[in-house]
Amino acid sequence: MSVVTAFSPDWLALRESADAAARSTELLAPLRRDERRRVIRDLGCGTGSMGRWLAGRLNGPQHWILHDRDPLLLARAVEGMNGLTAADGSPVTTEVHEGDLTDLRGADLAGADLITASALLDLLTFEQVEGLAEACVQAGCPSLLTLSVVGRVELTPSDPFDTDFAAAFNDHQRRGLLLGPDAPDTAAQAFERRGAVVRTRPSPWRLGPDQAELVREWLRGWVDAAVERRPDLDGDAYFQRRLDSLESAVVHHSDLLALPEAALFENARSETVRSETVRSETVRSETVRSENVRSENVRSEGGR
Ligand SMILES: C[S@@+](CC[C@H](N)C(=O)[O-])C[C@H]1O[C@@H](n2cnc3c(N)ncnc32)[C@H](O)[C@@H]1O
Repeated sequence: MSVVTAFSPDWLALRESADAAARSTELLAPLRRDERRRVIRDLGCGTGSMGRWLAGRLNGPQHWILHDRDPLLLARAVEGMNGLTAADGSPVTTEVHEGDLTDLRGADLAGADLITASALLDLLTFEQVEGLAEACVQAGCPSLLTLSVVGRVELTPSDPFDTDFAAAFNDHQRRGLLLGPDAPDTAAQAFERRGAVVRTRPSPWRLGPDQAELVREWLRGWVDAAVERRPDLDGDAYFQRRLDSLESAVVHHSDLLALPEAALFENARSETVRSETVRSETVRSETVRSENVRSENVRSEGGR
């Protein structure tokens, strides 16, 4: 069964500043050295939030190829990226590619210097993430895949029903074979199996009283999705109670940078020492990641 979700531009606009604050800038270090004109392919671009976040953090001219299946979002993305410049003032240009990104193969991405995605991986199935990793690795350039949900939220103060709603929401995320919270780990393994070096960093939304509208919309969607899976839960009562009492919410996500062998080779040519740093940092980050996965497994098994 294939699950297609439409995303409203209003929702994407509402979450954009939280997304921007959450994405890990640490992962950008290996991408900052290359100042040639770059072709960047943003997969599932929506209204262009990733371009608005990243273009001004990289030097040198950039040409963004914006991929999405939703023509309305693509039009907004072109409009919303108009006039962007790189960190050093170099021009940023765009073109659109409308279609299903899961059909993309390595040859379609050939010539890319960077592949990006944001809030995408958890919407894909295991086979689709495998296919995407294969295409990205064949393209031979770095892939920066940000803001995948990890299935963990911290709501303060707590409520006795938080665990039930969180488990039902995660179950909803996995509907129709979608990966949902399993996406970050699946993607990391898919890239690593193909010889890429993977670095991951947490990228949580940290929501407080100054983001009341986002909290309200996010909570409404979170509760509604949970109730779709567990109609026995009293969603309206829980939603109102949480809205009245919530002081802060942390919605955990994860960012991933994959450097295929070809990209490492490029880096090594320009700066040997640095690529060694990437490798050793990766070992550290992999250790942390597998420890996180282990402790998350313990937590989610406890929650069932
Ligand atoms: C959650 S939105 C994120 C949008 C944007 N990257 C952002 O961070 O604001 C997911 C986007 O991926 C697109 N998308 C999801 N699956 C897709 C597919 N199989 N082919 C093309 N676009 C897809 C959706 O249309 C939507 O624009």
